[in-house]
Amino acid sequence: MPKLKIEGGNLLTGTINISGAKNSAVALLPAALLCRTKSKIYKVPKIRDIEYLLKILEVLNCSYKIQGDELEINTSNLTNAPIPENLSEQMRASYYFMGTLLGRFKHVEISFPGGCNIGARPIDLHIKGFEALGATVTKIKNKYIIDAKELVGTRIYMDFASVGATINIMLASTYAKGETIIENAAREPEIVNVASFLISMGCKITGAGTSTIIIEGNNLLDNGVTEVFPDRIEAATYVILGALTGENLHIKGLIKDHINSVLIKLKDIGANFEVKENEIIISKCKKILPTKLITQVYPGFPTDAQQPFTVLLTQADGVSTITENIYESRFVSAGLLRLMGAKTEAEGNVLTVTGKTELTGAQDIEVPDLRGGAALVLAALIAKGTTTLTNIELILRGYEDIVEKLTKVGAKIKVIE
Ligand code: UD1
Repeated sequence: MPKLKIEGGNLLTGTINISGAKNSAVALLPAALLCRTKSKIYKVPKIRDIEYLLKILEVLNCSYKIQGDELEINTSNLTNAPIPENLSEQMRASYYFMGTLLGRFKHVEISFPGGCNIGARPIDLHIKGFEALGATVTKIKNKYIIDAKELVGTRIYMDFASVGATINIMLASTYAKGETIIENAAREPEIVNVASFLISMGCKITGAGTSTIIIEGNNLLDNGVTEVFPDRIEAATYVILGALTGENLHIKGLIKDHINSVLIKLKDIGANFEVKENEIIISKCKKILPTKLITQVYPGFPTDAQQPFTVLLTQADGVSTITENIYESRFVSAGLLRLMGAKTEAEGNVLTVTGKTELTGAQDIEVPDLRGGAALVLAALIAKGTTTLTNIELILRGYEDIVEKLTKVGAKIKVIE
């Protein structure tokens, strides 16, 4: 099994270019099935999740062409088929095929989606939304069978502003009769990205990016085109890395407004950086102040950046707390940081980090989840000595060319067998 070998202690300098967002792209590919003939998506990241989604497109008889980071999908021969569990279990986002296939065919068979093990992660809000549109949902063991005679637009209130459920209901309702109103919708940029793709196909959607989204059903969608937004979590991860060990490290190709909450927190703890139009230039923060961090739905501090930020707080002078409000089991990587010398203590949904601790390399730490893996990479890059990480597939699922990007700015990191 491949491992990542990382030697810590180098200052990183140069430019890291941000890729297209994983969490947008994984919704845009299933969304392309709403097109009658073809669609085009620019800036698609080369990550494992995309490889698996393309395999699912093949199962559904779609063809595609990839040129660099441009993806053209041909849906002229789209056929409905059960999505095999060995593919759907590879990632969380396979649940978006529920929304699109329900819209197109009024029938879906799919096993429960996989994804990182960071909490229970039920999909009840997705199911409630489909049922409100007129579908019946049957669960047999791990398999969901969703059927509808027709989908009819309605008003849906979401108990929690779930990213996945908002997008999934938006996808299904594009083919519903009349108007669907989603209230307490999630406001993450990924939702705006998907909505702009649906609008380019001919769908009428207003309010994406706010708490109320209105979708006007139309079953003649075609020729969708969009560009994947820059990955705000990848950007946040590398900006945090810059505060840990950058020397005029340029993080380029991001949308600053998408990571405002992270930048504000970085300012709070004493980091200095320069913001240009689509770029942040950051150097190692000499003195890091402790803080209280609380994860929230967008535009609050993103749960996905919480784990990398924890590494920064191990270098703060004093006691910090992190309150995790989105997932119930997202402190596993914080526990693993203890193997490198960090002082972290989790109780319920609150993590206490006591700094400043010098981190030292450790061997064969098993990556627990995608963002936790990124956090361990950051920790290894500032640790004394060498660290090896196992189960690195989880990192490659979501960070495009992470080894190449870090090597280019001076990190000593490589994949070993
Ligand atoms: C998406 C992102 C993930 C990110 C999360 C929050 C993708 C593929 N993943 O995940 O990286 O961490 O948004 O920004 O885009 N919940 C329910 N019932 C539901 C749906 C969600 O209880 O039907 C709960 C979840 O268990 C979780 C919380 O709501 O505790 C947030 O989930 P949600 O916003 O749906 O996240 P995902 O779409 O799964």
